[in-house]
Amino acid sequence: MHSHAAEMPVDLKQIDNDPNFSSRMDKLVQLSRDRHVNTFAQIEWPDTLSDTAWWLSPELLSVHGTEFADSLTEAQLKRLSKWECINAFSLNVEGERELLSALSAQLYAPDLPHIDTYIHHFIDEENKHLWFFAEFCRRYGGKLYSSKKVGVANEAFCREMAFFLLFARIYLFEELGGHYNVVAGGDERVEPFVRNIHQIHHADEARHITFGRAILAQAKEIAFSAADAAQREAAVAHLQRYLQISVEALYQPAMYRDSGIEGGVALRRALLAHPARREHHVFTLLKRPLKFMNDIGIRLEGSSL
Ligand SMILES: [Fe+2]
Ligand SMILES: [Fe+2]
Repeated sequence: MHSHAAEMPVDLKQIDNDPNFSSRMDKLVQLSRDRHVNTFAQIEWPDTLSDTAWWLSPELLSVHGTEFADSLTEAQLKRLSKWECINAFSLNVEGERELLSALSAQLYAPDLPHIDTYIHHFIDEENKHLWFFAEFCRRYGGKLYSSKKVGVANEAFCREMAFFLLFARIYLFEELGGHYNVVAGGDERVEPFVRNIHQIHHADEARHITFGRAILAQAKEIAFSAADAAQREAAVAHLQRYLQISVEALYQPAMYRDSGIEGGVALRRALLAHPARREHHVFTLLKRPLKFMNDIGIRLEGSSL
């Protein structure tokens, strides 16, 4: 009966005590309802898309800033932009499929804070994204790429840490994909239909990222006080590994082959080690999420990316 306040278990339900958090959730739910779009009915798929257009901004290409880009003609770079776009969208399919099952599994867990209504909207929106990205890849690429990215090992984390890591992986995945959507979606050089797909996605993702930041800021302290030192260290290593796998997946050898570029495996290796690319990963592609994670006390190393 002498239980001291500091010894009270801090579980995830604690999150509900913050009125700011609750009102942000209400706001996000309202926005999802106000901006709801029946994407299935609204997208008008062109029969074909030009092979001689940019499908991604040249600055988004995996060879950008290197001598490999200089050795390719504009026509070759445009062809590469098509297959890099198919790869980026295939990665979205993979990531969103995983996210859908992981989020569904959270619903109505007894210790889930009041985020269930928002999770329903999240699932609803991701289900549409998954559909249009897969449809895009099949129609205009004739296939989906597989990243063969065997998900990061699922170490035995306590519930609070597993919860935090789930939303951290989702957040990192969405920030990374979001960079492509923002740049290509705002680039007049990109083929209009492709640009529109980037824009449609970004319209929903901006809210998901806001949600991710809010839930992570809340769950971080709870997870890190529930876990022991070994788990805390393993959690940071887990996210580091997740980021690395996600970055490596952008250098899919098959997309070089499909663009008519020889030696895709060697090219991938050379690019991943290239100083200009490593700089791009840390200072452009992952700048925002690395900063946010650092702000909540998770220091991820840019040097291994
Ligand atoms: Fe999405
Ligand atoms: Fe999303």
